[in-house]
Order: sequence, then structure tokens, then C-alpha cells
Amino acid sequence: MPDQRIISNLALVGFMGCGKSTVGRQVAGELHFEFVDVDTLIEAREGVSIAEIFSNEGERAFRKMECEVIAELADRKNLVIATGGGAIVNPENLTSLKQHALVICLWANAETIHKRTKHQSHRPLLQQDNPLSTIRKMLTEREPHYKQADVIVNTELRPQREVAAQVLHQFGESKRGGGS
Ligand code: S3P
Repeated sequence: MPDQRIISNLALVGFMGCGKSTVGRQVAGELHFEFVDVDTLIEAREGVSIAEIFSNEGERAFRKMECEVIAELADRKNLVIATGGGAIVNPENLTSLKQHALVICLWANAETIHKRTKHQSHRPLLQQDNPLSTIRKMLTEREPHYKQADVIVNTELRPQREVAAQVLHQFGESKRGGGS
């Protein structure tokens, strides 16, 4: 990691259902940045949904695509990037994002994530008999990775516009702090 980071972008990481895409879109609008969603870029490139990639090619193939797409964002500026919930489990992805972006993790507890995701069906990793216990287990495993973000914003008990305001504040602070 270079000593002097050039923060040109903002990256949102965190577990599924923490609001990365919704908050990301809102923040991008405020900053007049382009919003990019890593999963959407993968789907556009492959011409199929994330669920289809998982079922046809497996998670390993998906992780490789995710890593390639994240690496390609390094040359771009003025982006708000929403990553998939498992992206920064691969340290290569976090290192890549930190080279050009302030990395903010949106956090929620397992019960809240379960409430927010239980009626959705597009996430292959949560299509389980007992999604709450899967969420608990994955969240515990991933927590040390999420803690490597520059900033953690708790989304519990806060409307999404307040989460977005907090994210914008942190991004502004990183700029004032001489990060660019
Ligand atoms: C995943 C999260 C999903 C998507 C894929 C795997 C994960 O993105 O990348 O289903 O491993 O947590 P969201 O966090 O946007 O749901």
C-alpha cells in the first residue's frame, strides 16, 4: 500500500442487505459521481444473473470475475462503487480498492440482515433452509475482513438517508485530511 493514498473514489463494502447499492446511489447523486455496482458490471459482462453464474459456473468462477472487475476500476475516478458482500474476503480486492478509494463498510447485525433479506431471492448464498444461521455464521467469518475498511458505519436504527449523510461526511473528512 503506498504511503500517500490518492482517494479519487468511494467504495462501499459490507454484508448482503446492508444497503450498499441504495446508499451508494444516493451518495453518488450528492457527489455528482458515477455509481457502479460490481455485481451489475459482472452481470452485464456475462449476460446472465449472479444466481445463474453461481449455478452454472460455481462460486469460484464468480469470485474470479469479481476480482477482475474490481481491478479494472483502479484507473477510474469520481466513482461510488458498491461491491458484493463477499468481495473483500479476498485481501487482493481490499488492497486494490484502498489504492484509489475510501473504503466504507456498512454494518448491521445478523437479525437485521435477515429481516431485510428474507423476502428476496436473488442471493444464491442465502437460499438456504435456515438463512438466519447462515447469515450469523458468514457474518462472524467475515467480520475481521470488514473491520479492515477505513470506516465502519452502523446502519442499525438509522434511516438510509442518515447512513448516506454519514458516508458523505466521512468521504469529505478523508479529502480534508489530505488523502488526495
Ligand atoms: C455475495 C453478495 C452479493 C453477490 C453474491 C455474493 C456475498 O452481493 O455478490 O451473491 O458473498 O456476500 P450483495 O452484497 O450486493 O447482495
